[in-house]
Amino acid sequence: MKVTIAGSGYVGLVTAACLANKGETVTCVDVNEEKIAQLNAGRLPIYEEGLSELMQSSFGTHLFFSSDCSAAYCNSEVVFIAVGTPEKKDGSANLKHVNQVAEEIAKAANQDMVIVIKSTVPIGTNQRIRSIVNRFKDPNIRISVASNPEFLSQGSAIRDMLQAPRIVIGSEDTFAKTTLEQLYSSFDCPIVHMDCNSAEMVKYASNDFLALKISYINEIANLCEIVEANVEDVAHAMGLDPRIGDRFLKAGIGYGGSCFPKDTKALHWLANYHDYELKTIKAAIEVNENQKLKLIKKARKYYDSFEGLTVAILGLTFKPGTDDLREAPSLVNVPILLEEGARIQVYDPVGMKNFQSIFRETVCYSITPEAALKDADLCFVLTEWQEIRELTADIFVKQMQHPIILDGRNCLKKSCSKDNRLTIEQIGL
Ligand code: UDX
Repeated sequence: MKVTIAGSGYVGLVTAACLANKGETVTCVDVNEEKIAQLNAGRLPIYEEGLSELMQSSFGTHLFFSSDCSAAYCNSEVVFIAVGTPEKKDGSANLKHVNQVAEEIAKAANQDMVIVIKSTVPIGTNQRIRSIVNRFKDPNIRISVASNPEFLSQGSAIRDMLQAPRIVIGSEDTFAKTTLEQLYSSFDCPIVHMDCNSAEMVKYASNDFLALKISYINEIANLCEIVEANVEDVAHAMGLDPRIGDRFLKAGIGYGGSCFPKDTKALHWLANYHDYELKTIKAAIEVNENQKLKLIKKARKYYDSFEGLTVAILGLTFKPGTDDLREAPSLVNVPILLEEGARIQVYDPVGMKNFQSIFRETVCYSITPEAALKDADLCFVLTEWQEIRELTADIFVKQMQHPIILDGRNCLKKSCSKDNRLTIEQIGL
């Protein structure tokens, strides 16, 4: 099938590469001409494991990039809308780009097609997009609008798409339903059909449940510290119950990323808009915001002020396997330390370039964890990269002025936490 993907961000590129890999003819378009030029030169504007290789395997045969959006839309059978829906100040989703693209597609279309909303959008958006499309399209052309939410995790996005446990399709007519059944016929998983509102809700309900699960285990971890229980042992035993499941039960300093923070606030906002309070989601948000400050509180047990201290920050991204800093704990902790006069030495295997575009030269950038630890009075571990996990007690002792390590991801070796030359604090242990 001839498919166009509007938006060459993380979701758009992964969707384009996977569908091209399945033999579809895919054009990924973006208004950002520089991004398209980068992609046509074989350079990825984002970091995602395996994406570059997957794209290279079909680039020029089944996968194309263009900034001439209308030319790509006009005779496509399916057009995915995969543009950003950033959070507005009040927590609601900004749909400006989605609405704009829907109008452009409708105006450009010169054959029957299905427009598929892949972006995470508030429940009810599909209906509004349908009215935009009907307003601008050629009346002789049939355009259906469907919902196909993505469940991609950064760092495992290709697997999450090609080995998806299910594909959710929201549609209001058989044309959309059969077209998407055909498009996804080579995927080995159940295709779950429902109306559009329900499909839009599945995305939010799934993400918000996962966020709630993380905030729940973080609260249990906080209580474990008080009653001297071990949250890792508790979570392990909980996870053996198939009704609970062992994933998203890892205690730490909270969730970040482009989805959980945005999607929890968006669903909470939507419910409030309808005079309904999502108390569980409100709690998940509040717990998470407090959790990100946990290491600062722990640090104050050792130093009244951070003035003049050298502080090592190991890990900047919101999780390993990505260069994405969005809502990362580092964006909350570093400004507090800087404001109090600390000298900050940061290390991250891939996130430092993005970090430098925000913090410029207010911190020192170290190309190894050891360099970041040099003469440090305190160390914050914020992301569980392998390079950080494998650090030994000897390295901490050798490098640091005062080996006080606050492990926000409970990721350091057991031998470190048992070594009495170090002072290590973890979450819930
Ligand atoms: C998430 C959802 O997993 C995905 O299905 C959705 O489509 C997009 O949002 P992502 O944000 O890329 O994916 O990463 P994820 O692996 O879910 O982690 C999100 C955050 O939660 C990270 O900051 C991670 O450190 C944190 N996390 C995750 C925990 O703190 N504990 C856990 O057990 C799991």
